[in-house]
Amino acid sequence: MKILVIGSGGREHALVWKLAQSSHVSTMWCAPGNGGIALEKLSSNGEPVQCVGVGAEDLEKLLELASRIKPDLTVVGPDNPLSMGIVDRFEQAGFTIWGPNAQAAQFEASKAFSQEFMQRHDIPTARSGIFSNPSEALAFAKSLQGKCAVKADGLALGKGVLITDTIQDAETAIQQVMVDKSFGTAGNQVVIQEKLEGLEISLHALCDGQGYLLFETSQDHKRALDGDGGLNTGGMGTYSPAPFLNADQLNEIRSTVLDRWLNGCLVEGIDFRGMLYPGLMLTKEGPKVLEFNARFGDPETQVYLMRLKNDLPELLLASAEGRLQGIQLEWSEQASTCVVMASGGYPESYAKGKVIEGIAEAETDPLVKVFHAGTKLDDAGQLLTAGGRVLGVTALGDDLGQATQRAYKAVEKIHFEACHFRRDIAAKAL
Ligand code: AMP
Ligand code: GLY
Repeated sequence: MKILVIGSGGREHALVWKLAQSSHVSTMWCAPGNGGIALEKLSSNGEPVQCVGVGAEDLEKLLELASRIKPDLTVVGPDNPLSMGIVDRFEQAGFTIWGPNAQAAQFEASKAFSQEFMQRHDIPTARSGIFSNPSEALAFAKSLQGKCAVKADGLALGKGVLITDTIQDAETAIQQVMVDKSFGTAGNQVVIQEKLEGLEISLHALCDGQGYLLFETSQDHKRALDGDGGLNTGGMGTYSPAPFLNADQLNEIRSTVLDRWLNGCLVEGIDFRGMLYPGLMLTKEGPKVLEFNARFGDPETQVYLMRLKNDLPELLLASAEGRLQGIQLEWSEQASTCVVMASGGYPESYAKGKVIEGIAEAETDPLVKVFHAGTKLDDAGQLLTAGGRVLGVTALGDDLGQATQRAYKAVEKIHFEACHFRRDIAAKAL
């Protein structure tokens, strides 16, 4: 099987690494890839994964590439190309591609779409309103005493959500999103939700248009600093499994969130093939959905794929072709922890081009894998930082304590100037 992977982050490195382990894969390309992806080799024949310099949002060039290399399966990592309709375009051109089509990708691309869908199908979520007029938005925020989440409707690199505690803060947030347009046109419309309190968890459900397979639990750490301080980021570390849900709670989430969501899709003719990734808050009144994403989480993917035993190309092909029924997910009993090493300053401005050392030493432990997010190889083959999140240092262990200890031991061996990471990944669970 020939596979094309689209994207360039830690999630895509994890996808490439896992896909490359399959005996069915004979050739793999990644567009555009990164410094770590370029070092991966296929288990079946030792061939290197080929990085191709085409951006993940350049649909025309990606189609040209596909026409030339004729992949049997294309796997899309990030949200932007999905909402731009890459799946529709590839399918029209006769290619098999994994990910939701543009209609289905709206669950992530439009928070207003998701919120209205949840209301139509009685899916538990925060009290909310959708506004395109700032003074109406403010009136609603006042009715919540200013304790709200102000969300730009469209895609904003995971940054378009402002959490407020006072009416003053809420007013500033509404001004920023709707009037100053800090997130561009994504803020033409906003969703305002009541602020929910509780533990936040990520779920992943692999869908094939007819049903879903629920992944094991995981938890991300969204804030930049220890103790959940600092700004929201793309995610500073994950672990799996997350011990906060018992079997009863998980069953409740299946029936009130996932089954209702699936039924809603079937009723409305939404053909969702890909990954549904709901963010949930476990509140005192039960689990409530904060948002839906329509792709693998980053860095959730890193811990999931360390633990997943199934053949990934087969699984994604079955999802794309509507054949998941009868397939069982198989997980390693071991736990996994991923610690993100970021450039100092992230998620605000940071320097690039710093030399990274120590990855080979960290990976001498066979239960450690360092996934690259923002890295590149220079002409001399030297590895340099090239983004905010640089590496996802990921380890397995017999339990979460061991996995976490092993991940941090590996982190200690890796160096680049002004590196920043959280020291409390998985601490809540330990
Ligand atoms: P979202 O992109 O909608 O998941 O929002 C980003 C982050 O903001 C989430 O991961 C939560 O930590 C936080 N958040 C979103 N909505 C709410 C809410 N209604 N109440 C409290 N926190 C929220
Ligand atoms: N882990 C956060 C995200 O993928 O959006």
